[in-house]
Amino acid sequence: MDNTASERPKSMTTLAQARVRSALRPGDWAIDATIGNGNDVFFLAHTVGPTGKVYGFDIQDLAHARTNIILGEAGLLARVKLIHTGHEQMLDELPRDWPGKVAAVMFNLGYLPRGDKGVITQPETTLRALDASAICLKRGGVLSVVMYQGHLGGKNETLAVKEWAKQLPPHDYAVELIQSGQFTEDAPELLVVSKQ
Ligand SMILES: C[S@@+](CC[C@H](N)C(=O)[O-])C[C@H]1O[C@@H](n2cnc3c(N)ncnc32)[C@H](O)[C@@H]1O
Repeated sequence: MDNTASERPKSMTTLAQARVRSALRPGDWAIDATIGNGNDVFFLAHTVGPTGKVYGFDIQDLAHARTNIILGEAGLLARVKLIHTGHEQMLDELPRDWPGKVAAVMFNLGYLPRGDKGVITQPETTLRALDASAICLKRGGVLSVVMYQGHLGGKNETLAVKEWAKQLPPHDYAVELIQSGQFTEDAPELLVVSKQ
């Protein structure tokens, strides 16, 4: 399966937003670890409201350009800070008081739809960013990771993320793996981690 925007099942990203929405309140702090075309950061900014704050990370100019347009047109830029660096630098880039107080972190792995398919998230940096995200979450906070296996390296990264989730202390984190309704080997999957 190719994970281009048109072929990518909407259901996993929609489901991720639904799960995150249930953990978010107006005024909350949230992170989009892979801003891409801006859909999740738009959702987060809209949901936390004018008193909330969202940090977004991406390494590509195109992702920042598209996201700036979407947020600008919606009047949401004031509540969002977009960081042009890898999500593995998250703890260095966030305000010092954020760790332990973040209500939601969203990841959508793979490549930028309608962008360069050669630029993809990488297991090593993804795992470092997941470690940082687990530190950032507050109790009751939710981490979502949409994982794709249809592109080169996607299977390895999905496996690495699942192994990462397995080693989380069960007393502190509830882990759920949601598989898509598609019964294909490379169907997308959604990991949801809730901090207890
Ligand atoms: C599938 S897209 C994200 C889609 C996005 N969530 C949306 O709503 O449109 C994956 C994005 O991850 C970005 N990416 C790759 N490596 C990254 C890294 N180390 N840190 C942050 N973003 C990264 C890519 O540039 C790409 O834009």
